[in-house]
Amino acid sequence: MDASDLLRNSLLQLSKSGAVRQTIEKAPVSRSVVRRFVPGDRTGDAVSATAELRATNRLATIDYLGEDTTDLTQAIRTRDHYLELLKALSDADLSQHGMGEVSLKLSALGQYLPGDGHKIALDHAREICQAAANAGTTVTLDMEDHTTTDATLESLRELRQDFPWVGAVIQSYLHRSEADCRDLAHEGSRVRLCKGAYKEPESVAYQSSSDVDQNYVRCLKILMAGSGYPMVASHDPRLIEIAGALAAHHQRDADSYEYQMLYGIRPEEQKRIADRGNQMRVYIPYGEEWYGYLMRRMAERPANAMFFLRGLATK
Ligand code: FDA
Repeated sequence: MDASDLLRNSLLQLSKSGAVRQTIEKAPVSRSVVRRFVPGDRTGDAVSATAELRATNRLATIDYLGEDTTDLTQAIRTRDHYLELLKALSDADLSQHGMGEVSLKLSALGQYLPGDGHKIALDHAREICQAAANAGTTVTLDMEDHTTTDATLESLRELRQDFPWVGAVIQSYLHRSEADCRDLAHEGSRVRLCKGAYKEPESVAYQSSSDVDQNYVRCLKILMAGSGYPMVASHDPRLIEIAGALAAHHQRDADSYEYQMLYGIRPEEQKRIADRGNQMRVYIPYGEEWYGYLMRRMAERPANAMFFLRGLATK
C-alpha cells in the first residue's frame, strides 16, 4: 500500500468518526472552505447553483446531503426537503426535460430504520419520484456501500414499475459490476457509472486504482454497446476520452449518453465538454450534513485535502 492509499484509507475512516466530525463542523472557518464543493445549506442555494450551471449549458443533479439515518423524523425531513426542492426547481423553470434532476440516498430516507426500513425508504423515494414526474424531471438512486447494493437495485426495480426513468449507479470497484451493467444495459435504463467512493473489503472490491479503472472500461463497453442511457461519472481524463471513443464507435448521438462531474471539481473541463456539444451534468450536494461527503472527496485526491487544510490554517 503506498502513501496515497494510506491517506485515502485514513480519510475514509475519519468520514465515519463522530468526534472528528464535531470538531471540524464547529471550526468557524469550515463553512467558507466547504463552499467550493457544497454551494450552501438551503434549497435556494441549490436552485441558484443550478441556474448558474444552466447559464453555461450544464445540467444538474441535486443531492440533499445526509446518509445513514436511523431516525424516522430525520428521514421524513429529508423527503420533505426533496419535495420542496423539486417544487422550487419547477417554479424557477429549471426542472423541465430533466435539466435539474435529483439524486437520492436510500439510507437518508430511512433504509436503516429497524423493522420496515426498506419499505419506508421506498415509500419516501416513491413520493419524491411522483414530485419529480410532476416537475418534468428524473431521479437517480445513489449507490452506497456494498451491503446496500442488492437492496438499492431491488428498490430501483420496484420504482421503475411506475417511474421507468429512475436511474441507477454502478461502482466499478465492485467485482459484481460487470454483471450488473449487463442487467441494466437495456432500453430506457439510465445508468451512472462511477468508480465508487466507500472503503470496501477485498472480498467484494478491487483495491488498486488500475484494477478499478480497467473494470470501469469493461463496464463502460457494456453500457455503451447496450441500448440504455449511460451516464459517465468521472473526472478522469483517460476514462472520459475512452467514453467518447466508445460512443463514436457505437454511433451514439450526443443526446443518448452524458458526462457527469461533481460540483467544484474540474469546472473548466465541465464547460469545455458542454461547449463541444456533449451533455454535461454536475452533481450538486447541498445541506448541512456535508461532513461525510467532503471527507470522501478529500480521500479521492490529496490536493482536495490540502485545499481544505490550507483554508483552515489561513482563514
Ligand atoms: P479519480 O478520483 O480516481 O481521479 C482520476 C483523475 O481525475 C485524477 O488523476 C485527475 O487527473 C482527475 N481529477 C480528479 N479530481 C480532480 C481535481 N479536483 N482537479 C483536477 N483533476 C482532477 N460514488 C459512489 O460510491 N456512489 C455514488 O452514487 C456516486 N455518485 C457520483 C455522482 C457523480 C456525478 C460523480 C462524478 C461521482 C459520484 N461518485 C459516487 C463518486 C465516485 O465514485 C468517485 O469517488 C469520484 O468521482 C472520484 O473518481 P474519479 O472517477 O473522478 O477519478
